Amino acid sequence: MTQGITYRPPRPEELADCALVWHASVNDYMARLGHPLPPPVLEPAMRLGEHLLATDPGHFRVALKSAPGGRRERIVGFGIGLQREHVWFLSQLYVLPEEQHRGIGRALLSLVLPSAPEAGADGAADDMADGTKIARRPGVLATCTDSAQPISNALYGKLGIVARLPVFNLVGRPSSPSVLPTLPEGIEAIALEPPELVSHRNPAAPGKAELRQTIDAIDRDVLGYAHQSDHDFLRVQGRTGFLYRTSTGEPLGYGYSSQVGRFGPVALLDETLMAPVIGHLMRSIEPRGATSVWVPGANDRAMVAMLRAGLRIEGFPAMFCWTRPFAAFERYMPASLALL
Ligand SMILES: CC(C)(COP(=O)(O)OP(=O)(O)OC[C@H]1O[C@@H](n2cnc3c(N)ncnc32)[C@H](O)[C@@H]1OP(=O)(O)O)[C@@H](O)C(=O)NCCC(=O)NCCS
Repeated sequence: MTQGITYRPPRPEELADCALVWHASVNDYMARLGHPLPPPVLEPAMRLGEHLLATDPGHFRVALKSAPGGRRERIVGFGIGLQREHVWFLSQLYVLPEEQHRGIGRALLSLVLPSAPEAGADGAADDMADGTKIARRPGVLATCTDSAQPISNALYGKLGIVARLPVFNLVGRPSSPSVLPTLPEGIEAIALEPPELVSHRNPAAPGKAELRQTIDAIDRDVLGYAHQSDHDFLRVQGRTGFLYRTSTGEPLGYGYSSQVGRFGPVALLDETLMAPVIGHLMRSIEPRGATSVWVPGANDRAMVAMLRAGLRIEGFPAMFCWTRPFAAFERYMPASLALL
């Protein structure tokens, strides 16, 4: 551990300081590349910090540097790991520019991710929160990096968390949404939130527990793990979701969008529905401004649909990194790069 630096969980009132470290560390290298960040909007980062502090309190650490003369110590870095079933995802790792290259990032990483996630691959079954049993799977370490950032890619790469898949940020107001197909006949979209209201409006709609089990099953098939707590968080943050199913009730996937323009996550059991589902989400939820969506390179159907609808690629691609494959990214679009 680096001299003069201590590590501990954050206090809730320190989440704004963490968001400022995030902004300073990213702006430092982006400004050098000629793409300085706009002034920080701390609110979304703080809400995500609150959520992850609630779901993964043991895997959120701040690095503090003591100040001379008895002045208050200050946060110079932080890291957040989250565990969803067998997958450990590094959500965030940031160190202030003037404190980088001293081992703080590496130390934080060792505190928020396990060193041996493979443990558990012994063929036993795990009891899931919803009561189902699934075969125990080898643990996975994963994260998302910026392709313009050699330090993070090197730091994680040494642990086997190697960059393997580009993720593109597509942004804009769709100029030609009419090119996107409508949902095929016989496929219905059921609003996900709030389930009680949905059941009230449509007696044929699934109940809350049934809906959760359906979403979990879709997530395990597409993303590799269930993550209801993240769905709940996204809905509270204003994302509106739909379950897609056949007229006989067979689930086909789900998708979210929002009026503030944040699009995703989208998870489909049948990838041929990608363009019609994107079309349905764009027509059902009209954002007040631009739409912003993260599209994995493997999801060619989403990429083609979004580009043809008129969105444009913004900035450098990000990269998904993992120790071993865990998700079918050709059928998935994440909510963000910090919370899949
Ligand atoms: C990424 C970041 C958190 C790392 O923190 P840090 O305190 O600077 O990192 P450390 O000093 O602990 O370790 C950096 C490692 O990368 C290595 N490294 C740096 N540049 C490298 C390069 N071009 N090629 C190979 N290795 C490189 C260093 O040698 C060091 O490895 P070592 O410990 O084995 O010697 C920090 O640089 C940062 O905040 N960057 C900006 C924001 C960012 O990109 N965050 C990651 C989001 S996914």
